[in-house]
Amino acid sequence: MKTYQLKRSTKLGISLLLVFIVINIAVKLFSSLELTAKSPDNVETSIITHHKQHPDCAPFDRRITPRHLFQSYFSIQQDSKWLAKPTLHSPTFQEIHRLLFGLSAPNIYATWPNYFKQKSDSTYPHTSLSQSIFEKLTEEVDIPIRFVVEVGSFMGKSAINIGKVLLQSQFNQNYVLLCIDTWLGGLEHWVQDDLREMMGMAYGRPIVYEQFIANIIASNLTDHVLPYSTTSLLGARFLLEKKLFPQIIYLDSAHLQGETYIELELYWSILQTGGILVGDDWDWKAVRCDVLIFIDSNQLNVTVLSTKTWFIKKQKRA
Ligand SMILES: C[S@@+](CC[C@H](N)C(=O)[O-])C[C@H]1O[C@@H](n2cnc3c(N)ncnc32)[C@H](O)[C@@H]1O
Repeated sequence: MKTYQLKRSTKLGISLLLVFIVINIAVKLFSSLELTAKSPDNVETSIITHHKQHPDCAPFDRRITPRHLFQSYFSIQQDSKWLAKPTLHSPTFQEIHRLLFGLSAPNIYATWPNYFKQKSDSTYPHTSLSQSIFEKLTEEVDIPIRFVVEVGSFMGKSAINIGKVLLQSQFNQNYVLLCIDTWLGGLEHWVQDDLREMMGMAYGRPIVYEQFIANIIASNLTDHVLPYSTTSLLGARFLLEKKLFPQIIYLDSAHLQGETYIELELYWSILQTGGILVGDDWDWKAVRCDVLIFIDSNQLNVTVLSTKTWFIKKQKRA
């Protein structure tokens, strides 16, 4: 019988190889770390940190970002003196009304003509931001919540949920919720017959804005909620221009890859430190991939609540 003895140098080589393999496996595991936990109210929460590349998503070319595409926009962000100011002021309902509609404009709700005889309608079935989820999200915000922006409001169902939670909270009764939407629908509304119908087409264009106004009036939120009928990108630029910085932003608009990424960059830049950027439709690949690219390129974490709602917290700087 032969006994094979390994040389000492070979043994050392094998040990080093094994250590190398173990380290490699550990690095791979932790580079796409997902922690899943159940909170007391049984909402499943996953914290996702720094995805190098998600299996579903195309590789990300880091060389081109919105910072390159919108250089003048982002150069303002580098002015540290200016950046020190944002938390000082939160606008009132009247201030935003004046800024958007003009100094002497009459109250938009009081003068609403209701040409299409819209009645309130709460049947929209796709709202995932419930009052209980929004309430839970407010606990993540470190600063007083006075100014909230929703991007993508449609008939107003999620806006009404946000509005009611803030109204019930004794500290936030002076809040303003600005709803930014074209009220012209996203791609999904134009390619799916049932969704097109929900936009209420009349004379060749959607009238869902009218439904939004009817619903806000019926919910008694006319002292707090204001509509801003424009594109998501223009809305973000307007807020930056006017130095209006929300503590919570809820993003539920484009859902198209690339477009969502630009929305993320722009709205992140105007979010107050200590606030949260919340979004819908984590289960849409386009949204999920853009969020993952965004957190990767900005070294952030995203927390996913249930299958739809996610949020990114803007931590105070060290
Ligand atoms: C899914 S709906 C919002 C639903 C609402 N958040 C809810 O849960 O009740 C999406 C909305 O985003 C708007 N939208 C889509 N793309 C947009 C864009 N680029 N700018 C502004 N609004 C947009 C559409 O008009 C539509 O009203």
